[in-house]
Amino acid sequence: MPAVVIVGAQWGDEGKGKVVDIFTEQAEVVVRFGGGPNAGHTLVVGADKVIVRLIPSGILHPRTRCVLGQGMVIDPASLFQEIDELVRRGYLPADLDSGRLAVSDRAHAILPYHVVVDSLREQGPGALGTTKRGVGPCYEDKAGRRGVTLGTLRDLGKTRDRVGAALDAWGPSVAAMGAKLPSLADVMETLAPLAERLVPLLTDTAAIVEGAVRARKKVLLEGAQGTLLDVDHGTYPFVTSSTSTAGGACAGAGIGPTRIDKVFGLVKAYSTRVGGGPFPTELHDLVGERLRQKGSEFGSVTGRPRRTGWLDLPALAYATRVNGLDALALTKLDVLTGLSEIKVCVAYRSADGHDSPFPLDEGKGLTPVYETLPGWTEPLDGVRSLGDLPKAARDYVRFVEERADCPVELVSVGAGRDQTILLTDPFAV
Ligand code: GDP
Ligand code: IMO
Ligand code: MG
Repeated sequence: MPAVVIVGAQWGDEGKGKVVDIFTEQAEVVVRFGGGPNAGHTLVVGADKVIVRLIPSGILHPRTRCVLGQGMVIDPASLFQEIDELVRRGYLPADLDSGRLAVSDRAHAILPYHVVVDSLREQGPGALGTTKRGVGPCYEDKAGRRGVTLGTLRDLGKTRDRVGAALDAWGPSVAAMGAKLPSLADVMETLAPLAERLVPLLTDTAAIVEGAVRARKKVLLEGAQGTLLDVDHGTYPFVTSSTSTAGGACAGAGIGPTRIDKVFGLVKAYSTRVGGGPFPTELHDLVGERLRQKGSEFGSVTGRPRRTGWLDLPALAYATRVNGLDALALTKLDVLTGLSEIKVCVAYRSADGHDSPFPLDEGKGLTPVYETLPGWTEPLDGVRSLGDLPKAARDYVRFVEERADCPVELVSVGAGRDQTILLTDPFAV
């Protein structure tokens, strides 16, 4: 029984939430292995829509254990907002315990000063367009060895010392930005009741995940963000601060690479990006606006309009390589309905006619080369098999898998669970 990793192959928002929710029908354990409340994963069940930020997207399945892994950065206040909302809506029992939702005691706490620093930087000239959830500064504290792990919250005296040291470290740069940090007393006053609620959920989640794998249970490892936002492999510095590629699944969930059986890359039928940074196939015209409206491309965390553009195959080839993708899930194909023609970037070419790989920087001197494919007019949201897709849509799917050299094993034609063409059993490896 395999462990399957799901990662975004673009700049996030590829539909990871939907696919994880569907695959969880079979999974016994679902682990989020990185990122924090910068993620927004949408689950649509009938007329109901749930957006999870920290909680794994398997949470709607009552028999599945959901794990927040040690690669994550967790804002306790956001976590309980999310939990309380799910309880209020009847998706979680009020007497939640670590059997249903286990939180790593080695994950790091996002604390109010991280949010202050993130927001201040976004007002300055170096703004990247972050989600302002404190994710970057929290990972900085982790790497700087002055972070507060959630396990520290078991001892409020020790927590106070760690928070005090972090406030001392951040103080000068915040003062230089003309602002003030929250006081130690204020941070501790907010944190103490949250810590009391959080501590019963804390455990060694890496042991749970390894135990599940050894017991041959089906385990899903849920990525956040996307390949091109990865701190090592993305369009640096316009990236998030964690490893959002498949390699991060091991460190972030706490298992070894020998335990992973399959890696799924999620790719939209077109491209989107939120925040700053290079996006060579971006559209600034009516077609781009149409993709935004038809695809409801507005950030699920911040509500910001997402930038939209054509599918970028060199970028997908890059994602296939750095994640070692075994299969693709092609999402939002329905959004392309009604376009008379569809462009796909197939190469990057220099003035002297040489082809280059996908540029991770601004790609100076490189021009995207497009192939134009025929569009289709039929709505796809009711289609449930590849054979029932209009020929042009089927050809588009084939084109993507051939050019990416990676099989498409799922096609998504709407936000709903049933609006899915599943071509193989994701756990049959
Ligand atoms: P994630 O961050 O990768 O989980 O993706 P988001 O939830 O942020 O964004 C994906 C959006 O597209 C959500 O609003 C989903 O409900 C929606 N969605 C997912 N798959 C499809 C699809 O195949 N077609 C359409 N039209 N919407 C989809
Ligand atoms: P999901 O999991 C899309 C982007 C931000 C910004 C950059 C850095 O829903 O796909 P951060 O707050 O992480 O420091 O911001 O990364 N970003 C995302 N974009 N989807 C996400 O998550 C994102 N998480 C971060 O917009 O450009
Ligand atoms: Mg999202």
